[in-house]
Amino acid sequence: MNSGFRGAADAGGDAMEGAFIELDRVEKVFDVLKRTGFLRRERRQVRAVDSISFTVARGEMVGYIGPNGAGKSTTIKMLTGILTPSGGRLRVAGIDPSRERTRLAQRIGVVFGQRTTLWWDLPLIDSYRLMHRMYRIPDARYRENLDRCVELLELGSLLDVPVRQLSLGQRMRGDIAAALLHDPEVLYLDEPTIGLDVISKARVREFLRDLNAERGTTVLLTTHDLQDIEQLCSRVMVIDHGRLMYDGPLAGLHEVGDSERTLVVDLERELPPIEAPPARVVKVEGPRQWLAFPASRSAAPLVARIAAEYPLVDLSVREPDIEAVIAKMLHSLEDAAPQLRSERTVS
Ligand SMILES: Nc1ncnc2c1ncn2[C@@H]1O[C@H](COP(=O)(O)OP(=O)(O)OP(=O)(O)O)[C@@H](O)[C@H]1O
Ligand SMILES: [Mg+2]
Repeated sequence: MNSGFRGAADAGGDAMEGAFIELDRVEKVFDVLKRTGFLRRERRQVRAVDSISFTVARGEMVGYIGPNGAGKSTTIKMLTGILTPSGGRLRVAGIDPSRERTRLAQRIGVVFGQRTTLWWDLPLIDSYRLMHRMYRIPDARYRENLDRCVELLELGSLLDVPVRQLSLGQRMRGDIAAALLHDPEVLYLDEPTIGLDVISKARVREFLRDLNAERGTTVLLTTHDLQDIEQLCSRVMVIDHGRLMYDGPLAGLHEVGDSERTLVVDLERELPPIEAPPARVVKVEGPRQWLAFPASRSAAPLVARIAAEYPLVDLSVREPDIEAVIAKMLHSLEDAAPQLRSERTVS
């Protein structure tokens, strides 16, 4: 599908090749007061981001994942300039976000799935008009981007609806459009599919894929949904307790963690457990059998083999959930280097 997004080349600004987002030993330490008894508070430090270094090239689409409290949102807030790092060096498009937040704002778009940037009481279109003025977007470009987003995100019938009346999925699409009206070169998405139904998720993913492919927008995506990563990101970074634990392809993540996918097979009748190594039957219920196999392998040869040898009625493949994959990966890293766990986190 040709959605007609502008090419990155005419996005304006200085042409910066290579690393577009750069983090060099970036840290964020929060001072928190912890209640330790009646009227007693203890000052404590939480090391939310602990010496993280990575670079992202222009046009990359990268997943940024990890357990709750890992430091993902804190990283994104530093990348937008909302939070100032406690240490290290951070650049986005050559700009230090916390020093030049306003200048950077012209070049980045942000979507926080948990929170809207839209005006709650105003019709959707009024929020867009306000952004048109706030970001001083040239009229023609504003119109073009708005029309494109309205078409691809199917917002047409929603423009006159106050944001508070939108469903979560509608609001999220509204927020994504809002983040793109000024043609940002980078889009940070912090859980953009949280709470969405399957159809809305698919729509959002398709839109993001097109945006990246046609417009060359760099995307950093935080999510708890493994399918977001699978369908969108060739590269994934895993953080845990503020530390970067893995940076590479998703398949590699499966390998490190030995994670498994499940093939659910419906046979014509009840039969003894299917034999198809390396898959192994983990559950049988009447004519239905569940087979676990390494997530890094393709399901195709396994399916072909079972279809040839067994009276197959139906089948489906279930992905491991992201928490399980991450937990397994962190566990196997810990086995390999036990000191990793003990030397990090809070002081
Ligand atoms: N403003 C703040 N003040 C104090 N501590 C904070 C603050 N913001 C975040 N933290 C702490 O920093 C750590 C990382 O939080 P962060 O929100 O970045 O995690 P996350 O990876 O986005 O988690 P989730 O998956 O739950 O969204 C947590 O321990 C959190 O409690
Ligand atoms: Mg978060």
